[in-house]
Amino acid sequence: MKTVITYGTYDMLHYGHIRLLERAKKLGDYLIVGVTSEDFDRSRGKINVQQSLMERVEALNATGLADQIIIEEYTGQKIDDIRRYNVDIFAIGSDWEGKFDYLKEFCDVVYLERTQGISSTDLRAKNQGIRLGIVGSGKPTVVAKYINECSYINGLVISGIFTDGEDIKLLDASQENVASGGAESVNSHSKTLKKSDLPVKNSYRELLEDCSAVYIASYPSEHFEQIKYALEQGKHVLCESPLALSKKEVEDLFELAAKKELVLVEAIKTAYSMAYDRLLLLIKSGMIGDVLSIESTCTSLAEMQNENILKGWNSINTWGPTALLPVFQILGTDYIDCRIVTKLTDPNHNVDAYTKVSFIYKRSTADIKVGLGMKSEGDLIISGTKGYIYVPAPWWKTDYFEVRFEHSENNKRYFYQLDGEGIRFELVDFVKLINTGYSNNYISHKTSAEIANILNIHHDKRRAILLG
Ligand code: CTP
Repeated sequence: MKTVITYGTYDMLHYGHIRLLERAKKLGDYLIVGVTSEDFDRSRGKINVQQSLMERVEALNATGLADQIIIEEYTGQKIDDIRRYNVDIFAIGSDWEGKFDYLKEFCDVVYLERTQGISSTDLRAKNQGIRLGIVGSGKPTVVAKYINECSYINGLVISGIFTDGEDIKLLDASQENVASGGAESVNSHSKTLKKSDLPVKNSYRELLEDCSAVYIASYPSEHFEQIKYALEQGKHVLCESPLALSKKEVEDLFELAAKKELVLVEAIKTAYSMAYDRLLLLIKSGMIGDVLSIESTCTSLAEMQNENILKGWNSINTWGPTALLPVFQILGTDYIDCRIVTKLTDPNHNVDAYTKVSFIYKRSTADIKVGLGMKSEGDLIISGTKGYIYVPAPWWKTDYFEVRFEHSENNKRYFYQLDGEGIRFELVDFVKLINTGYSNNYISHKTSAEIANILNIHHDKRRAILLG
């Protein structure tokens, strides 16, 4: 009996896939098809696969062409599989010509002519077709990162940008498939684009006329009106945190979005880091027992007279949402008491050099420290009854963390590649939410509303303790 093996993602199964499988099957008597897992695809840079692993396997099964379906989970697995299943022929499309010659040591390698004119990438692009407008007067460097990351998401094009900023430094990403053992990697280099190279719009209104979704990175005081206007115009919204300056405003915005059947998502990139996501799952699984304390610190030194700070991006607005994220996502928003201590350098503009927020919950406590005029260790410590999780600085770009126990021989270390600081996955999730109404990691409405509430309390000086 001759065994043939082939691999692929098989997203939105199409005619090109079927033709390849038919020809592969004819090469022998028994066909094994390897379907890539979500994690493996992510790690090799294929990020916006539309269907889940389950859906892809089911679609493949329904063709009746595969005698056996296996899951491909890691680089180098092909050699393992060929040995394990006694494979005679490895078959793959001609787009991979030469890339799998290293397998000739183990079996025959056959490249089959790729079917012209169809691919999952094209199907995804047709399906999505999202035109994203960008409002970027408040955070030029963040906006530059988003523009760069948009180039990784097929089906998402930038329809225009409205910003007061000067030249925006763009990282021009070139996505190349560097195949080695089935792995793809992504290369990037930077270049500076002038404002005139971008589809710049003269007003917010003009920007909204020509887009289906908008990304807002203006000033916190502008967010509410800009989101409201975008939703009223029928546009989906991704907005830098905070969505608004009070809980009520945030709740009103979510209500409006639901009424209009539109997506409204708060942009906190850390929420989309795979390591951070895994950390939450480990805690939910009870690995460190009951969580009794969370300490989260985010600081970055800045010139306190900076225009951006004076216009609203003070310490608590800049760092508060990120620092609060693990607190609300792990302990929820039903705390008993919250105390805010802040050191103001410019009370007229509500500029804080340093702010500390302490929460008391029924069974636990949490403390966040943020500052643009103070430097500290930017780590995250989540302590439980069985052990604790330590995320080293800068924890908000989580790619690595440790689970530590009383006996250090039980400690565990976790590492997950973080591409694009989480922004790439945030955009993928935003697109997925628009197209399917479903996403894994996005931030709950309660969390968004409570973040705005804390910033509101800070703003209301009667409710915060001022340091001299
Ligand atoms: N394939 C093919 N003809 C096509 C598309 C894919 O023969 N038009 C083959 C590929 O060469 C591979 C298999 O089908 O052997 C699975 O490919 P996969 O990467 O899942 O499909 P693509 O459509 O190429 O996906 P993408 O656009 O995401 O790269």
